[in-house]
Amino acid sequence: MSNAKWTQLWLEYHKVEDITKPFAIVIDGFKKENRIIKSLICELKTGLEKMTGAKCTEEEKTTDGAYVVNIRKKEDLAKEGYRISKNGLSINVDSSDENGALYGVFEFLRTIALKKFDENFEKKCVPDNPLRMMDHWDNMDGTIERGYSGNSFFFVNNEIIVDDRTRDYARFLASVGINGVVINNVNVKQCASLMITDRYFDKLKELSDVFADYGISMYMSLNFASPIEIGNMDNCDPLNEDVIAWWKKKCKEVFEALPNLGGFLVKADSEGRPGPFTYGRTQADGANMLADIVKDYGKIIIWRCFVYNCTQDWRDTKTDRARAGYDHFKGQDGQYHDNVILQIKNGPMDFQIREPVSPLLGGLKETNQMLEVQIAQEYTGHQIDLCYLIPMFKEVLEFKTYCQKENDTVADVISGKAFGNKNCGIAAVINTGNDLNWTGNDLAAANFYGFGRLAFDMSLSSEEIAREWTMLTFCADEKTTDVIVDMLLRSREIYEKYTCPLGIGWMVTPQTHYGPSVDGYEYSRWGTYHRADHLGLGVDRSSSGTGYAMQYYKENADMYNDPSTCPEELLLFFHHIPYTWKLKDGRTLIQYIYDTHFAGEEEAEEIAANWKKLEGKVPEGTFNTVSHRFEMQIYNAKEWRDQVNSYFYRKSGIPDEKNRPIY
Ligand code: GCU
Repeated sequence: MSNAKWTQLWLEYHKVEDITKPFAIVIDGFKKENRIIKSLICELKTGLEKMTGAKCTEEEKTTDGAYVVNIRKKEDLAKEGYRISKNGLSINVDSSDENGALYGVFEFLRTIALKKFDENFEKKCVPDNPLRMMDHWDNMDGTIERGYSGNSFFFVNNEIIVDDRTRDYARFLASVGINGVVINNVNVKQCASLMITDRYFDKLKELSDVFADYGISMYMSLNFASPIEIGNMDNCDPLNEDVIAWWKKKCKEVFEALPNLGGFLVKADSEGRPGPFTYGRTQADGANMLADIVKDYGKIIIWRCFVYNCTQDWRDTKTDRARAGYDHFKGQDGQYHDNVILQIKNGPMDFQIREPVSPLLGGLKETNQMLEVQIAQEYTGHQIDLCYLIPMFKEVLEFKTYCQKENDTVADVISGKAFGNKNCGIAAVINTGNDLNWTGNDLAAANFYGFGRLAFDMSLSSEEIAREWTMLTFCADEKTTDVIVDMLLRSREIYEKYTCPLGIGWMVTPQTHYGPSVDGYEYSRWGTYHRADHLGLGVDRSSSGTGYAMQYYKENADMYNDPSTCPEELLLFFHHIPYTWKLKDGRTLIQYIYDTHFAGEEEAEEIAANWKKLEGKVPEGTFNTVSHRFEMQIYNAKEWRDQVNSYFYRKSGIPDEKNRPIY
């Protein structure tokens, strides 16, 4: 493995004291020269040798007293699943395919690292989601859209980089069960359109091979206007014969050169991106045209549902960005071909700290669906502020859509359990960059790790994942682990408290999306997003407002439509509420705003102080980086507290009952 300067994250493999016997690896039923099996052997050796210091050999005949790790091909296991069992000195990792074997090996290594490797160890696991993907928003010039941890390690100055760092990244992905990666920004601009030309094929092939070694399919974001941008055509109408012929020829070239490519991801008709609407065609027309062509190569088209008109005039109270996804896609349910997957952001807006679950999830019943979440902390603190996102992802997965009587949660829908789809799963927008710690804030790696683990096994709890990550990463004493786990688990609510209360969202500096700007919203030409006036605050999305609440199945629609049954954490998302409205605990809305902003800032200080106590317990570099991030977080929290509180004090004229300073 590489002798890297960058960190190895949770694959650091700290020394485990109580295993001293040597290990022998036996491959039984798989081809040793298979690329994934080769990686697996390499990973096993690296991990075992680093953790135990004992020798690890590839011997059929084993020495007495050695552990034997049998990697066995067993057809009874489901795709990508594994079973690990231990009997005396014999350890079996069984699976029906190479990916399953690799995941089993990483689980075995994890078990040793977590010191759970005892006599009767046995574990069986089959991934919940067929597709478990990371979507990068890397640009070819090396920048990353919403990148807060350095520049791209895929692209530098319009060239593609493949090196040890790429390999380590593939290792991290596989170690948490990721099997797909999109390498470039959904906003395919600059020379990124040229990625599907022979200018880049050799390097792309090399890159896709590195991923393939770890059982990961590479995908690329596609510019829907490629026929115009690189094909010298005057249109990209998906029903135009010449356009279709152009794509056929192009896809033949691409898939002949890049056989490991899994397919394409497309953002169309949104935020300035081209798409089928220009030609009066539907999203289905666009997606199906491409899907029919890539089908011949066994590939898929992932089509994003983040389609909305960012220039719409919302002074008309029925106009609502939140409605757009459902309005554009629900009517075409059943029209998308089998190798199209619609990728749906978790909320109807845009990765806010709290949003309701998109009504499209489960709203579509006859269409392949994939959930899109964001690990890149675009609206959740830029990897400066601590924000462990797994609790949010779990809430989304557990949300009951009522799309049918049983098996109707978002987890059921995206895993294929609800409607029997094969092409489905979960994707996260990620911004791992060339910072030595990969994620800017060392603690933000918990989201990277956690997403992979959760995508594989949706039954894991937020706490289990946080604990596992903390133990693997820091291998610290129990008290230290408890402190870090506690910080992670509290962090999302703390961030929410000092930023945007009760589901209102935004109020963030336009464009950059960090720090407060109460009236700020990039598309605020038509007034403020939050609709605050001197009497109240919030967006009326009930049946008498924009009607968004009615996009849900009846049970949820009724619940959201009425402010007295609407979950309070989403009250301002769905309703315009007077400042004097009494919340369930008896506080008025305005008092709640004041209280939570003071509390959020105080709690941020509290977790920062807890971190300070860990000096000497975690690596010095990590301690310093995270300490500095906390200093910035507290500054940010104070800014939010003061700006939001004073804004609403001035708007409402109602003072804080506790007479705290509000300027
Ligand atoms: C947000 C984000 C953009 C991104 C877009 C998307 O609007 O701010 O940077 O391009 O989401 O998901 O496509």
